[in-house]
Amino acid sequence: MLQHQQKFIMTFLGLVVLLLLTFASPNSSCTGKEQRFLLDFLAQLSHGGNSGLNMSWVHGTDCCAWEGVTCRGDNTVMGISLTSKGLTGRISPSLGNLSGLMNLNLSHNSLHGSLPKELVLHSTIVVLDVSFNQLEGSLQDLQSLNPGPPLQVLNISSNFFTGQFTGEIPASICVSPSFTELDLSRNQFSSNIPQGLDDCSMLRVLKAGHNNLSGILPHELFRATSLEQLSFPNNGLHGVLDGSQVVKLSNLTVLDLGSNGLSGEVPDSIGQLRRLEELHLGNNNMSGELPLTIGNCTNLRYISLRNNSFTGDLSKVNFTLLDLSIADFSMNYFTGTIPESIYACNNLIALRLAYNNFHGQFSSKIGNLRSLSFLSLTNNSLTNIEDVIQTLRRCKNLTTLLMGSNFKGEIMPQVKSIDGFQNLEVLSIDTCPLVGQIPLWLSKLTKLKILDLSSNQLTGSIPSWISRLHFLFFLDISSNRLLGDIPTALMKMTMLQAEMNAEKLDPEFLELPIYWTPSRQYRLLGAFPAALHLGNNKFTGTIPPEIGQMKMLMYLNFSSNSLSGEIPQEICNLTSLQVLDFSNNQLTGAFPSTLSELHFLSTFNVSYNELEGPVPTGGQFDTFSNSSYIGNPNLCGDVLSKHCSTTPRDQTFSSRQHSSRLPIIFGVIFGGLSALALLACFLIARLVYNDHTENLVPLQRR
Ligand SMILES: *[C@@H]1O[C@H](CO)[C@@H](O)[C@H](O)[C@H]1NC(C)=O
Ligand SMILES: *[C@@H]1O[C@H](CO)[C@@H](O)[C@H](O)[C@H]1NC(C)=O
Ligand SMILES: *[C@@H]1O[C@H](CO)[C@@H](O)[C@H](O)[C@H]1NC(C)=O
Ligand SMILES: *[C@@H]1O[C@H](CO)[C@@H](O)[C@H](O)[C@H]1NC(C)=O
Ligand SMILES: *[C@@H]1O[C@H](CO)[C@@H](O)[C@H](O)[C@H]1NC(C)=O
Ligand SMILES: *[C@@H]1O[C@H](CO)[C@@H](O)[C@H](O)[C@H]1NC(C)=O
Ligand SMILES: *[C@@H]1O[C@H](CO)[C@@H](O)[C@H](O)[C@H]1NC(C)=O
Ligand SMILES: *[C@@H]1O[C@H](CO)[C@@H](O)[C@H](O)[C@H]1NC(C)=O
Ligand SMILES: *[C@@H]1O[C@H](CO)[C@@H](O)[C@H](O)[C@H]1NC(C)=O
Ligand SMILES: *[C@@H]1O[C@H](CO)[C@@H](O)[C@H](O)[C@H]1NC(C)=O
Ligand SMILES: *[C@@H]1O[C@H](CO)[C@@H](O)[C@H](O)[C@H]1NC(C)=O
Ligand SMILES: *[C@@H]1O[C@H](CO)[C@@H](O)[C@H](O)[C@H]1NC(C)=O
Repeated sequence: MLQHQQKFIMTFLGLVVLLLLTFASPNSSCTGKEQRFLLDFLAQLSHGGNSGLNMSWVHGTDCCAWEGVTCRGDNTVMGISLTSKGLTGRISPSLGNLSGLMNLNLSHNSLHGSLPKELVLHSTIVVLDVSFNQLEGSLQDLQSLNPGPPLQVLNISSNFFTGQFTGEIPASICVSPSFTELDLSRNQFSSNIPQGLDDCSMLRVLKAGHNNLSGILPHELFRATSLEQLSFPNNGLHGVLDGSQVVKLSNLTVLDLGSNGLSGEVPDSIGQLRRLEELHLGNNNMSGELPLTIGNCTNLRYISLRNNSFTGDLSKVNFTLLDLSIADFSMNYFTGTIPESIYACNNLIALRLAYNNFHGQFSSKIGNLRSLSFLSLTNNSLTNIEDVIQTLRRCKNLTTLLMGSNFKGEIMPQVKSIDGFQNLEVLSIDTCPLVGQIPLWLSKLTKLKILDLSSNQLTGSIPSWISRLHFLFFLDISSNRLLGDIPTALMKMTMLQAEMNAEKLDPEFLELPIYWTPSRQYRLLGAFPAALHLGNNKFTGTIPPEIGQMKMLMYLNFSSNSLSGEIPQEICNLTSLQVLDFSNNQLTGAFPSTLSELHFLSTFNVSYNELEGPVPTGGQFDTFSNSSYIGNPNLCGDVLSKHCSTTPRDQTFSSRQHSSRLPIIFGVIFGGLSALALLACFLIARLVYNDHTENLVPLQRR
């Protein structure tokens, strides 16, 4: 029994020794040489910029166990992956001495300097990803070798690489014929797309968007027939999309040539690209009718033709594309009714038809579009708003509905019961103009966050149910004929009360951006400023002191009404305010004393009221000029060239009476000149913004 146990223990110990020996064999850790190459890389990172890598990369320990390093069975280094590590400094060429390295991924760091060509031309590296760094230099000294390096995937996107992709310089961007994926996007490459793409016979992915490339798409490009993704957006390319060439890329799934200067038509042969899933041609100078063959691209998921000069009756095209989820035809000259076949696209999520010449109404079949979440119809010639609303409410998933500048002169539907729209968050029916009142059915849209009814001819007063829209944080009812008091119910809008509420907003992305001004677009609803636009109506009465409760408010515009009384002290509680416009009312009295606590204010206008006393000073108020105050004869202050007398108020009045006429005449002349200047500015501003800046989808045609 005991013997038996001893025997067992001996065997066990033997096994342990054997195991230990195995681990201690010369192959058990990476070679001293490889360790040196790695430590040289570490040494080239900036002092303090190795983000603790030196804790694990320690001389004399097994480098196969170092952070980010992987080895083969024979303990040669095979891969290095140090992404998003906050590394700064340079990439040492010594990594090129690792004779078995296949995969090097240093993306999302802050490395600068050049990309050592020892890595690009390395004899074993297959995947090289240095995207999202601050590398610079040109790729010009990369000569293609014979035989080429085995590199298949090169990602240098989002760096500062420059280059003159022309002439004899790298005879081919495919330094290696084995290239399968090449991402050069978001650098500073300029000049033409290289001609010599002949060697890229294996290339599946070619991306060079967001550079400064110019010229045409060279025919050689279309010899890379394995291409699945061809992506050159945001460059300066011009010329036409040659139908006889593009058809050669029969495996293409993504064609992205958006935001260039392409002209001409979409070729008929596009229909032969049966695998096409994404077609981005927005923001070009293309024209003509959309070929009917587009209906043959049955795998299409995304199509954008936005902001071109396409014409023709879109309803001729058969859009029975079952995978289509995002379609943007906005800002063209399309005519006809809304294509009937689009109602068969069961998976449609976002549809933008804005800024065209579509007319008529929707078929009730639009209720089939159960996934439709974003619909923009702004600026067409649609009619019968009542019918459109009754039809669209059946799209249960609709969250964004933009349909301003349609329904010319119709009546705002006042239907008693509108159910549906239970998910609507953004509604814009501006600039029609519609007559009638703010309708009660809006009170049922309990998820509404953004409501724009501006520039209509609505009458009546602000309904008190407005405060029951618990998520509303952007309300624009400016430029109507609304009257009555500004109700205190408005001040109870939950979302404007406290930060805590603002956090309730989901950080959800819109399917397509909402264009606010030509230069501003929103992809995130929460990024919209909390705003109350009541300007240019017929509101009367005083500004309720309860206004101080709307602590989240950023834009407050009550201009061009008939409001009277004093500016309430509580306005100073609105510490998030960026824009405050009370101009063109009949406000009286002095400014609240702590107004200068509004630290984020960038626009302030109280011109043309009857305010008196000294203008606010300190903080932001030192940045506002007299145009903020013009048309208030009883205001004084340094910016007004009317200095405040230091005497107490009651004496100010009498001293005013005794003052000579000279300042008055002076004031009249000065006022007149300023008004002229203001008028000139206004006219210039109108020319520049073409009167569109306040609408929800105001982008103009080029
Ligand atoms: C050790 O490495 C050598 C060459 O690097 C190789 O030939 C040998 O097979 C390896 N031995 C083990 C046990 O991995
Ligand atoms: C790692 O590097 C940092 C900064 O370069 C240095 O402060 C620290 O002492 C180093 N730690 C080790 C273990 O070498
Ligand atoms: C890497 O190899 C080159 C020669 O190919 C040599 O000049 C260089 O010193 C080596 N780097 C290191 C860190 O050993
Ligand atoms: C490099 O790493 C990042 C982050 O893990 C990853 O997203 C990327 O796909 C990798 N690159 C390649 C070419 O695999
Ligand atoms: C770099 O591009 C390659 C090829 O397109 C891709 O696989 C990789 O994920 C990209 N890297 C990052 C960090 O996105
Ligand atoms: C873009 O390229 C053009 C010539 O094609 C050149 O004149 C211009 O300076 C380049 N712009 C930048 C920012 O590199
Ligand atoms: C297209 O893709 C298929 C498989 O996905 C492949 O067999 C074929 O060779 C590809 N065509 C070209 C021209 O590369
Ligand atoms: C846009 O295309 C038209 C022809 O369709 C052409 O006359 C015009 O010059 C082009 N504009 C630009 C900026 O390329
Ligand atoms: C492609 O579309 C055109 C026009 O709609 C049609 O005439 C043709 O039959 C389609 N081709 C195939 C193969 O479906
Ligand atoms: C549109 O295409 C679908 C599917 O290809 C087909 O079933 C339908 O009949 C076509 N409609 C018209 C009007 O041609
Ligand atoms: C409706 O929207 C919800 C939430 O975004 C989503 O989960 C659901 O799949 C959508 N329904 C349809 C039919 O697409
Ligand atoms: C304004 O803020 C002060 C201090 O935060 C608070 O005491 C007061 O109640 C607020 N007024 C209103 C009208 O919200």
